[in-house]
Amino acid sequence: MPKVRFLNPHGVKSTGPLEVEVKRGESILDVAEHCGARVGHACGGNLACSTCHVWVEQGVESLAAVHDKEDDIMDKAFDVRPESRLACQAKVGDVDLVIEITQESLQAWLDENPDERKREAAEAQARRAAAAAAAANG
Ligand code: FES
Repeated sequence: MPKVRFLNPHGVKSTGPLEVEVKRGESILDVAEHCGARVGHACGGNLACSTCHVWVEQGVESLAAVHDKEDDIMDKAFDVRPESRLACQAKVGDVDLVIEITQESLQAWLDENPDERKREAAEAQARRAAAAAAAANG
């Protein structure tokens, strides 16, 4: 079974990569959904947004070529690179993939999960308060 490794499954909070075995033919978005990697998908995987934009750092040669509609939608994305793909359209082949989730997609995921975004904001605020208190105490 091929493997998919997400280098930054939880964005800046990632403590390391997340690697999972997958079935051939699964989309990268489906894999992310199953393992908890934060790939945004505002249109629900219907090729109408670019929030599932990822960079395929290894294994891109095993994916089917980008089709015209995917290419059109990719025009909406930020920081498009040769290794860019829309996770809802790219299906895993026989080769292992290494994926970096774009900042755009990580942000979209947080927008789609407001409770998690609030929790992370509260944690960040608590860290800043603790650092300020430590600095004030010497
Ligand atoms: S989830 Fe919208 S294009 Fe992939």
